[in-house]
Amino acid sequence: MVRINLPKKEINTFYAFADKELPEEYCRGLACFVNRSENLDYWNKAKEQNPRTYCLGKCYSAPSSTNMDSKPLIDIISKEPILGTFLKNNVYSLSDYIKMGGMSSYEYAITSLSQKDVINEVKDSYLRGRGGAGFPTGLKWESAYNQKEEERYLIINGDEGDPGAFSDRFLMEYAPYLVIEGALIAAYAINAKEIYFYIRREYPKSISRIRNAIIEIKNYFNNKIPKINVEIGKGSYVVGEETALINALMGRRPEPMPRPPYPTEKGLFGKPTVVNNVETISNIPYIIKNGGKKYYEFGFSKSRGTKLISLNSLFKKPGLYEVEFGITLDEIVKIGGGLRRGNLKGLIIGAPLSGIVTPEELNTRLGYEELREIGSSLGHGNIIAFNEETKISELLYEILEFSSYESCGKCTPCRIGTKKLRDLISKGYFEKNELKEINNIILALRNTSLCGLGTGTGEVVFSILNKYGNEVIR
Ligand SMILES: Cc1cc2nc3c(=O)[nH]c(=O)nc-3n(C[C@H](O)[C@H](O)[C@H](O)COP(=O)(O)O)c2cc1C
Ligand code: SF4
Repeated sequence: MVRINLPKKEINTFYAFADKELPEEYCRGLACFVNRSENLDYWNKAKEQNPRTYCLGKCYSAPSSTNMDSKPLIDIISKEPILGTFLKNNVYSLSDYIKMGGMSSYEYAITSLSQKDVINEVKDSYLRGRGGAGFPTGLKWESAYNQKEEERYLIINGDEGDPGAFSDRFLMEYAPYLVIEGALIAAYAINAKEIYFYIRREYPKSISRIRNAIIEIKNYFNNKIPKINVEIGKGSYVVGEETALINALMGRRPEPMPRPPYPTEKGLFGKPTVVNNVETISNIPYIIKNGGKKYYEFGFSKSRGTKLISLNSLFKKPGLYEVEFGITLDEIVKIGGGLRRGNLKGLIIGAPLSGIVTPEELNTRLGYEELREIGSSLGHGNIIAFNEETKISELLYEILEFSSYESCGKCTPCRIGTKKLRDLISKGYFEKNELKEINNIILALRNTSLCGLGTGTGEVVFSILNKYGNEVIR
């Protein structure tokens, strides 16, 4: 593949923070928005800040800024922890990780299992991508493994751009050895000679913990592991989309690309590439140690295993919880202790690219398909509760501010439609005679957008019109 080296300045205009540094940044994410009354000063600073910072991953203590540094509550609500023990213990050295049984799955895989065996275990587990799309991980690996090209790559997506999510942040910060062990097993399974971590700039501790852990692991294995690179984000939401990420790593403008070809066929530098999310990959050591079938015993329906869910600061007990799929949303609200103030008006799950969940829908079980059935989606397991202080029109305005700010502009409906919808709701409501135009924009966004930012924006407006229409239509 031809490597296009555009001048850096042409690329950097894409990113919000390529050439800028601010002494302190204030988060404009949705978790900060719904709890802004707790620190209006911070929220006002976030609104004035240019460029904007969307989500520092501190949603458990939102409204937040870069200078705040508290630890979240971490708890395990599962018959057995898969990830939670590592998160709770905050493993600080490779030797401590090894004492906990760490690295034995990787050593077992490379000494006793063929690549096909590893892939079959992952297929048996029915692990699905935790980055949002929910694609079965074993099938993805198998597709890359079956390619003729011998040069292959593995990318670990640590961009975690969804406002309200902080699970990947703490996996990288508190359990970096686990994440890297999972990545080494994946690289072995698909025969990747090089691994790329892409970590958002908003997570400086994740970056340093992963970097330090790589050095320790390299030394431990006498350098006999694939090369591991760490790339740092520069402030963009869209770059987390896998084809945009591939462009970013190739030094191009990180715009999404049409698929097919899929990255497993033609990805980084035109070679077969697996892109996996941080949480997805963190499940792999457990699966290899205990077998895919054991992992399958957790969860329900087509959603197996456990999921880390991030609860925002409006919950009485905000934090990071490991739960099994199948738990109801009502139980999740109870785990969070209910709301700190006011009554629950809705949950924003998988924000900002999916529909809102109303209190009447709380009997829905946590699962990929089950959430889709009510017009929502799992996203990163980011669950933002809001109360009656939040006007739906203001919430929608904030979501559309996000979409229009982060749109890469490649697709016309997304570039123009997100701004148009934002402008229409900026007066505080939609007029009945605007609905035809609004529905046309939703249709165009849902049907013609190249990536989930455009389709998701269509979904969320559609969901709000359906579920909270009486509040936003006059
Ligand atoms: C606009 C957009 C942003 C995304 N951002 C992320 C992200 O920050 N982290 C992530 O893991 N996946 C993100 N994804 C999903 C990725 O495209 C991809 O599906 C995922 O990294 C694949 O890994 P998985 O199969 O392990 O989930 C995003 C998708 C879209 C459409
Ligand atoms: S949908 Fe929006 S963000 Fe996604 S590629 Fe098109 S213009 Fe870019």
